Amino acid sequence: MSEYKGRLTFAKGTFIEFVVAPNQDVDFGDILVVEGVNGDRFYIRTYDFKVKSRWSGLNNVGYLMSKLNEDGQVANQEELDFYLGGNHTVKIAMAEQLCYADADGRLYNPKTCPDFFCEVRSLSPDDTALLSEIKGDLEIGFLKSGRGVLELPVGIYGSKAITEHIGIFGTTGSGKSNLVKVLASSVMENGDYGMLIFDVHNEYYKDLSRHRRAAERLSVYNTTPHAGYVRRLTVNFTEVDPEDITACATFTEPQMDAIYKLSSVWQDQWMRYVLQYDVEDIIAELAGCTGQKFQSRTISKIKSICWNLKQELNIAEDGETVVGPMMQDLEQGKVVLVELKNISPVGEQALSTVLSKKLLQHYAGKPDNVRHQVKPVAIVLEEAHRFLGKKEHTSNNIFARLVSEARKFNLGLCVVDQQPRLLADKVLSQLNTLFILGLASKADRSKLEAMSRKDILQQRNEIKNLECGEMVVATNYMRFAAPVKVHKFEDFVSQYNVSAPVGFPAGNVQA
Ligand SMILES: Nc1ncnc2c1ncn2[C@@H]1O[C@H](COP(=O)(O)OP(=O)(O)O)[C@@H](O)[C@H]1O
Ligand SMILES: [Mg+2]
Repeated sequence: MSEYKGRLTFAKGTFIEFVVAPNQDVDFGDILVVEGVNGDRFYIRTYDFKVKSRWSGLNNVGYLMSKLNEDGQVANQEELDFYLGGNHTVKIAMAEQLCYADADGRLYNPKTCPDFFCEVRSLSPDDTALLSEIKGDLEIGFLKSGRGVLELPVGIYGSKAITEHIGIFGTTGSGKSNLVKVLASSVMENGDYGMLIFDVHNEYYKDLSRHRRAAERLSVYNTTPHAGYVRRLTVNFTEVDPEDITACATFTEPQMDAIYKLSSVWQDQWMRYVLQYDVEDIIAELAGCTGQKFQSRTISKIKSICWNLKQELNIAEDGETVVGPMMQDLEQGKVVLVELKNISPVGEQALSTVLSKKLLQHYAGKPDNVRHQVKPVAIVLEEAHRFLGKKEHTSNNIFARLVSEARKFNLGLCVVDQQPRLLADKVLSQLNTLFILGLASKADRSKLEAMSRKDILQQRNEIKNLECGEMVVATNYMRFAAPVKVHKFEDFVSQYNVSAPVGFPAGNVQA
């Protein structure tokens, strides 16, 4: 499987040069192995080349030039081939040592440098120490090496990556949705993690339902169910806090004040009463309890927003709610889709806020000894800058709190965005796993370079030239950022499904 690539000719610190064997391809970005003399191995990444020849000196170049005709063209190819042939000309590759495996197969950061003339070869399944580190338990794609794709799986370890937050970044069409589907499939296959996906375009069910474990590990919620498999999303009045409302629309100061006063007077029944009573009665009640007289315009606006949300989100009086079952689903390691396509931006914001907050409270409420046994859950937020932009983050909404607190409760965010530069720096700096897909804008790439916990500067060119479905994965526990060809969802899921029938009614779903 492994191919001979060349021999080491120079090493200093972690810098390595090797001569590329004749007739071998080595590309920018190739990950290769230097076989040490003691059974140890040095993993290296090629980042540059130079060509050297015994003809390189000025006099020799002059001599070769004299073999050309007056137009600078080759007069006699055969003669020139004679001069250039043999071992007179070599291609030298420059590489950086990524990590080191000792003779027992333990992986370390670079410890020493390889010896002169050691053999350089391509990676093979035999490089188990390296491969098990990058394989993870949630498979995402294959390792890319230069122009080729190696059939070596790459993924993340959910137990390490989920609670340390994930960022998925790429321009439209770069493959973000496909990546989320592949990740969700691996979560379903694995069963040790939960995933709450706010599905803005209702684009995931159709595909994820083809997974062989969909019947047991996929749940779909929608406020207006369109098919039998979808559960109706309802929330209870008592589950909506003032901050869920203030997070989703812009309010004036008096309006904010009124909302908080209402909730302090009527506690968890505030929203129900706001909708039930007339504006005048509400003003009188507030004046009686707090001594403050609010204008009727102020109260009307609050009433109006609450009314819209009640209609849109099926906020019900009789204690009906799906929050409990949804938390159960997540805790048991399911993928939960919350379909939001038909909901207004305000409703969407309110619903995402309420559900994420419930999840945080649910996990935070578990006793310490139990919490370690519950399954880590990733909350997938698309177009995340709407919730975690520079302005939104300072308001300390639920998502900002999740960024800083979720980890200790076994939760994590997976933010998806086309323009990482719109996210607050505090958010970017907390993302310990980055999936960097193709990003057209230099400003976005520079932002990630500056904020990434892992040094990705070396891969600047690679990141710039990523094609659809290709990405660079940088995660804090991996020793280097790896280039990956993400599986195409359709191929990936059919690989799982070979031996099992499709478990869910996929046939009657509209896109
Ligand atoms: N890893 C991949 N391999 C092959 N095709 C892909 C891959 N990722 C995405 N595509 C294709 O590229 C197109 C855009 O992908 P999509 O995931 O919708 O991008 P985004 O969500 O970033 O806009 C889709 O048609 C999809 O099938
Ligand atoms: Mg998309």
